[in-house]
Amino acid sequence: MIRRHLPDDAATRLLAEILAAHQPRGAVVHLQGELGAGKSTLARAWLRALGVTGTVRSPTYTLVERYPVDGGEALHLDLYRIGDAAELDFLGLDDIDAALWLVEWPERGAAVLPAADLEIRLAIEGTGRSVELLPDGQAGNAWLTALFEDPRLSTLPEPKA
Ligand SMILES: Nc1ncnc2c1ncn2[C@@H]1O[C@H](COP(=O)(O)OP(=O)(O)OP(=O)(O)O)[C@@H](O)[C@H]1O
Ligand SMILES: [Mg+2]
Repeated sequence: MIRRHLPDDAATRLLAEILAAHQPRGAVVHLQGELGAGKSTLARAWLRALGVTGTVRSPTYTLVERYPVDGGEALHLDLYRIGDAAELDFLGLDDIDAALWLVEWPERGAAVLPAADLEIRLAIEGTGRSVELLPDGQAGNAWLTALFEDPRLSTLPEPKA
């Protein structure tokens, strides 16, 4: 596990760039945290880092937004307003060649979502945010190792408490 403090928006965006630089193909990322924790900020900066230049829309009502990126499509989901996990079935996401899944409020669609390679837990802490990165499986663990070796990671402060 990696834990860091993110004092401001720029720190959240830098973390997204570091994550994007080392992501395995087809990575599934669950973004967890209360309202306002910074999930969308991280997702938007991540998509930008992958070269998405147009508008990054909030998937709050559409549930999913899709972006062409190197190696396929990046999927940005926000399940906050999902009524039933079966709504995801209608989106036909299984048929998409996804290079990346970024899922906000994944707990609301847990039954039908692919398992996470990396779970990102964000929380409000003072005027900033705290973040925990929890890998799962071989791809997730290899990803974490690559993150540790990125010198940019050490520019983010260690957790406060
Ligand atoms: N590290 C940070 N320090 C301080 N503010 C931050 C940080 N990261 C993001 N923010 C700010 O927090 C606010 C909420 O961010 P964001 O919309 O990304 O949250 P969210 O987790 O997606 O919320 P929701 O669940 O409502 O969609 C924004 O104003 C954003 O700029
Ligand atoms: Mg959001």
